[in-house]
Amino acid sequence: MSFLLGLDLGTSGIKALIMDEKAEKIVTATVEYPLQTPKVNWAEQRPNDWWNGTVEAIKQVISKSSVDPKEIKGIGLSGQMHGLVTLDKEHKILRPAILWCDQRTEKQCQYITDTIGAERLIDLVSNPALTGFTAGKLIWVRENEPEIYEKIYKILLPKDYIRFCLTGEFATEVSDASGMLFLDVKNRKWSDELLDELDIDKDILPECFESSYVSGKVNAKASSETGLAEGTPVVGGGGDQASQAVGTGIIREGVISSTVGTSGVVFAASDEHHLDPGHTLHTFCHAVKGKWHLMGVMLSAGGSLRWLRDTLFKDLKAEAAKKGVDPYILMEEKAAKIPVGSEGLIFLPYLTGERAPYADPNARGVFFGLSLRHTDGDFIRSVLEGVAFGLRDSLEVIRSQNIKIEEIRGSGGGAKSPFWLQIQADINNAPMTTINVTDGGALGVALLAGEGTGVYSSLEDACDAIIKVKSSTEPNKENAEKYDEYYAVYRSLYPALKDRFLDLSKIVEKHA
Ligand code: XUL
Repeated sequence: MSFLLGLDLGTSGIKALIMDEKAEKIVTATVEYPLQTPKVNWAEQRPNDWWNGTVEAIKQVISKSSVDPKEIKGIGLSGQMHGLVTLDKEHKILRPAILWCDQRTEKQCQYITDTIGAERLIDLVSNPALTGFTAGKLIWVRENEPEIYEKIYKILLPKDYIRFCLTGEFATEVSDASGMLFLDVKNRKWSDELLDELDIDKDILPECFESSYVSGKVNAKASSETGLAEGTPVVGGGGDQASQAVGTGIIREGVISSTVGTSGVVFAASDEHHLDPGHTLHTFCHAVKGKWHLMGVMLSAGGSLRWLRDTLFKDLKAEAAKKGVDPYILMEEKAAKIPVGSEGLIFLPYLTGERAPYADPNARGVFFGLSLRHTDGDFIRSVLEGVAFGLRDSLEVIRSQNIKIEEIRGSGGGAKSPFWLQIQADINNAPMTTINVTDGGALGVALLAGEGTGVYSSLEDACDAIIKVKSSTEPNKENAEKYDEYYAVYRSLYPALKDRFLDLSKIVEKHA
């Protein structure tokens, strides 16, 4: 029997997954690590914490599964995207990693846009300069910590640091590399022109491969630390979203996903390199060979509901604990009593700024249309609806690109709620399906490892054999028509408030 190992290096923890080639037996272990926020808008982690967590998670999953490490035929790596890891020539970590959710680089993004030109940036790397992406972070180090910048020998993305610890190789793959802003996404190779013009030495970048390519093998040191067999192949893997897409079967045009975790992501695989003319969605390489994807990332999806639970519904938490149920269930019971459209209460989910379709760190959450009639249940329902409206914003951009949409697959924590799935189906006026497997990114890279090491003849065959639709929620036509009207108002609110968000952030900053 062949086994595969998938490692998913998230922001809160690392998940290790071992499965047999048919995915009949899936065993996981998760180890958490801290996040540091030394200043407002900053988010950092220590790469050593990642590696220690990884060693622990691998040991746990091997012991829990009782699999002989020699039977693990390949390892795949998935991880939080965009983070900057810096190493010196002795391969020592130079500073904490600057993460995807760190917002310190507005000025550096402006510099990149001014130096390259907004349109040319799209021609060269298919995406605008956004604060989340790696390029701005590297330039921030150059401008603010020149003594560190001078010592940089290699920069790596988070999961690629784990690859380095496992194999000693400096390598990445196209899906994660797309989010650095250094990759010519169309041609799937580093953009020499962009690097020259930003005066960045190409040698500091790792080699970039396709995602199922075997990029190295577990070395003796990593083998003794983790218990993995020396020589086990490690494939490229993928950025967390592309890996999640593989693990949910979003590998060809027609089926797109809508994932609600802390953030919300709408992801469409495409056979061709598509550019959204408004540049509101990301155009990245897919982890599937020769394919790309369009992706809209909303920053506070499940995060908005969690905020509501933890602030306005603290008492419900205590009640839920007494009843032995999840507080979200009690919140849903209240929301279910409220009519479609929350009697005109519309929520804008920009609690931590927004990325798609509005790249605006200054945007903020709004409850619009509040009246004396509104009750606690209206607040809950309007948050569920506002998040679904935000996801529809990205979906509309994908629809306008003539990319086929035959099915929308719900995944992440949000897909566990039939009530929220119904709201999404009604707001999108399209069926929302769920699938039989829920291990997303870690499963996706285990499948890529299987493709790269010949356990599977193709990734597509493996996904088709393992990932099956479990349920389908059909839209209610009457609700969909009502939601269309509310959506038109929702859509008009951000453009109307954009400048006021900026005014507000300046005042807040002045008095901070
Ligand atoms: C993708 C993105 C997030 C992070 C963290 O563009 O920013 O998915 O990778 O999960």
